[in-house]
Amino acid sequence: MKIKLAASYGFCFGVKRAIKIAENTKNASTIGPLIHNNEEINRLRENFNVKTLHHISEAEGVGKAIIRTHGIPKKDLETLLNSDVQVINATCPYVTKPQEICEKMSMEGYEIVIFGDADHPEVKGVESYAIHGAHVVQSVEELEKVRFKGNKIAVVSQTTRKISEFLEITNFLETRYKEVRVFNTICNATFENQDAARELAKEADVVIVIGGKNSSNTKQLHSICKEYCKDSFLVESEKDLDPSWFVGKTLCGVTAGASTPDWIIEKIVGKISEIKV
Ligand code: F3S
Repeated sequence: MKIKLAASYGFCFGVKRAIKIAENTKNASTIGPLIHNNEEINRLRENFNVKTLHHISEAEGVGKAIIRTHGIPKKDLETLLNSDVQVINATCPYVTKPQEICEKMSMEGYEIVIFGDADHPEVKGVESYAIHGAHVVQSVEELEKVRFKGNKIAVVSQTTRKISEFLEITNFLETRYKEVRVFNTICNATFENQDAARELAKEADVVIVIGGKNSSNTKQLHSICKEYCKDSFLVESEKDLDPSWFVGKTLCGVTAGASTPDWIIEKIVGKISEIKV
């Protein structure tokens, strides 16, 4: 039986990049959790002595500080850069982009709208780059309450938002204001995993979806795979594998939810390859 991994699976590009940076840096501290995955944060602490700080004030004297994938507010970054701490920036480039846009467009006199969750660390970071502040909205209803000073508006999105909802925001603005600059800063990582799982399930005769059974993103992948390959199974660890699933199969597809670290995937793929079919 052949084993084939989906063209895109598991952690997104930005998270993988941040983990690599943390592993290579070692003995460092991150400002806020590096990524949203506790198992991986624990592994980095145990194996690479990468600690998590909860506030910038704890950074004094830490030696090396890694900036999380979601980024941090501009003034916090400046504080770090002006200190003795060595700064290693693991902000995802897809998050740096809206930060740069907010800074540039606000300098050019545009009022900034951010479509996203004001409490999310990524949005807090992006907002901090707008020199006169930004309007953070989650819906058209919230946007209707905003009183703009002029007619020049620039709009960006939190990276993980739905494009259909972003379009509602931009349509609202474009039909009411003279000059609206729209920057689609949505990252397609989740959709890439879903598209790749669909393609894999079409050709495989058994599919293993690796991820947390409570993870909505993993469950979504599982249901997509089941549509195209009825023998699709969701597993959290190698213990969940049932050898009978693989009897008579020729191609086993493997995919994983966005919060599944590579080391778990490797362990399970290793186990599948040992199963006698
Ligand atoms: Fe991941 Fe960066 Fe997108 S962290 S979800 S690739 S914005």
